[in-house]
Amino acid sequence: MDLGSIPDTMWLTNAALADRTTFRIGGSAARLVAPPDEQRFAEIYAEAVRAGTPVYILGAGSNLLIGDAGVSGVVLSTAGLRSRRLSGDGTRLRVGAGASLGEVVCWTARRGLAGLEHLVGIPGSVGGAVKMNAGVREGAIGERVGRVRVATTDGGVEFREGQDIAWRYRSADIDGPILAVEFDLERDKPVDVEARLFAAITERRSAQPVHEPSAGCFFKNPPGDSAGRLIDASGLKGRSVGGACVSTRHANFIVNRGSATAADVMALCDIVCKRVRRDFGVSLEKEVCCWPYATA
Ligand code: FAD
Ligand code: EPU
Repeated sequence: MDLGSIPDTMWLTNAALADRTTFRIGGSAARLVAPPDEQRFAEIYAEAVRAGTPVYILGAGSNLLIGDAGVSGVVLSTAGLRSRRLSGDGTRLRVGAGASLGEVVCWTARRGLAGLEHLVGIPGSVGGAVKMNAGVREGAIGERVGRVRVATTDGGVEFREGQDIAWRYRSADIDGPILAVEFDLERDKPVDVEARLFAAITERRSAQPVHEPSAGCFFKNPPGDSAGRLIDASGLKGRSVGGACVSTRHANFIVNRGSATAADVMALCDIVCKRVRRDFGVSLEKEVCCWPYATA
């Protein structure tokens, strides 16, 4: 691949990806770069697209299963895009796509800015959360998005208004890398926002295996039901293949017991899907994004 105008010093070659994901699984990237600002990000993205190489956008890696052989294309990490700025009357917050969603949630709660507190405990970047329309029972992140700044394939940037984006369950129709997000929040008493935040994190910790490596819920919930309930009722809690195991705490989490490979996870996924289809006639759909099987 010819990416000649990008200095060699910016790239990591043969960059290990497992440690850049919460699953701790997967091979290396042929090339990885974390551009230091939005303009550089957009330029490098356009150049990689022009070179015809597969391009993968990496946030916090908390919804990713990376194949054991890694990826042969270019991985663009948003880790360098972490700016944060309040504007207008102080309720519109602009954040770089690589900022930690958890840090943003706690920062806004402390300042009495309400609207994101129920998302506490989702371990993603802001850009990844918006691309996935991450959410909980109480609502999803798209409900608070005023607009997003996105890189285009010609090296430019464009804005998409939140109201023009199709927000679906765990997806948003945004093409190209998200560089920054503007949230519309509301004023409330810090003590009340923080109380809701603490209630949400307490509930999450009691229901989910938050201290074990995973990519969160592995499957989407089927309409009107919970994948976790179905997998549990199929008797699959604790079922394992190699180092991959169906969590004994929450059956929709596949956890890495330390030495799992992507092949282990996919084999376990297959067992789970077949059993749930046999027992309940329900076809489960993966929520986790798989590289290199599908690009961003
Ligand atoms: P990544 O995993 O890095 O990427 C996910 C996808 O988004 C990839 O396709 C990637 O290419 C794309 N992407 C990432 N950044 C960008 C960008 N800037 N522009 C364009 N595309 C991008 N999810 C929920 O919805 N609700 C939950 O309650 C929840 N709980 C979780 C709990 C645990 C313990 C874990 C490990 C995960 C949980 N998740 C949950 C899943 C995950 O945290 C979310 O999907 C998160 O928003 C993903 O963000 P990320 O930055 O880690 O994205
Ligand atoms: N349940 C079981 N056994 C289990 C797990 C769950 O019987 O092992 C039952 C519960 O008792 C409950 C029902 O299933 O009656 C729903 O469970 P839970 O409240 O844990 O919610 P969920 O539907 O499994 C969803 C999201 C989570 C999100 C929580 C909280 C999906 C796929 N999962 O889980 O999101 O944190 O609600 O709002 O939509 C994620 O997407 O990665 C994720 C973790």
